[in-house]
Amino acid sequence: MFDQETQKRMAAEAAADYIENGDIVGLGTGSTVKYVLEALGKKVQQGLNILGVATSVQTAQLAKSLNIPLITLDEVLQGHKVIDIAIDGADQIDESYHMIKGGGGAMHREKIILMCSDLRIIIVDDSKMVKKLGGAKLPVEVTKFSYLPVMELLKGSGLPSKPRLDSNGNFFITDNGHYILDCKLPEKPNLDEISALVSMIPGVVDHGLFMDLASIVVVGGAEGLKIHEIEEHELSQE
Ligand code: A5P
Repeated sequence: MFDQETQKRMAAEAAADYIENGDIVGLGTGSTVKYVLEALGKKVQQGLNILGVATSVQTAQLAKSLNIPLITLDEVLQGHKVIDIAIDGADQIDESYHMIKGGGGAMHREKIILMCSDLRIIIVDDSKMVKKLGGAKLPVEVTKFSYLPVMELLKGSGLPSKPRLDSNGNFFITDNGHYILDCKLPEKPNLDEISALVSMIPGVVDHGLFMDLASIVVVGGAEGLKIHEIEEHELSQE
């Protein structure tokens, strides 16, 4: 029986094995991705030649400390290149592989990096796998100026929210300089509708619903690894 940390590490190491020499790699954020960075640090030391694109300041700092060379998204795109593979964690994944992300507040950059990547690998321990995303907290990144009216609009749309606070009780500030509102999803949410509605509110920068953004989900469980390779047709099913 593998414990939760081992499950995360196994998923992360399996995902790191997809990376090939010369790849540009999107580096997610969080406690599961930390194990990817550690594995990549070792591979780089042994001669693997990659460039990482970090989704957060925290990931960039850890990557640098492990001598993983970094490149910015602008440099990738201006060089007419793509991100070959991105690896990231998730807070919840439902049976249609829709996800909630943003437990660490990095969902905006994470979504953009996944969007710009050819292969998108999501790594989780199996406590993250759920039937439905209903009832969970959905993080919404908002500009500082707009958070109160956005809260009102969200509430009026059936999404009551609270501003996220840091460990000192101050407003949590994202790497982009914004606040986060943690919304309570209804028990039976219409995810497409919520995603569209929240995105349209002025002041909203991004939200943590990730629809159809996984190509492969690697799940570490008590008994071992399970790899879900997601076909296009599965992604479009509700
Ligand atoms: C960061 O904002 C998040 O989207 C993380 O990717 C997600 O919360 C998973 O993090 P853990 O691997 O720490 O659970």
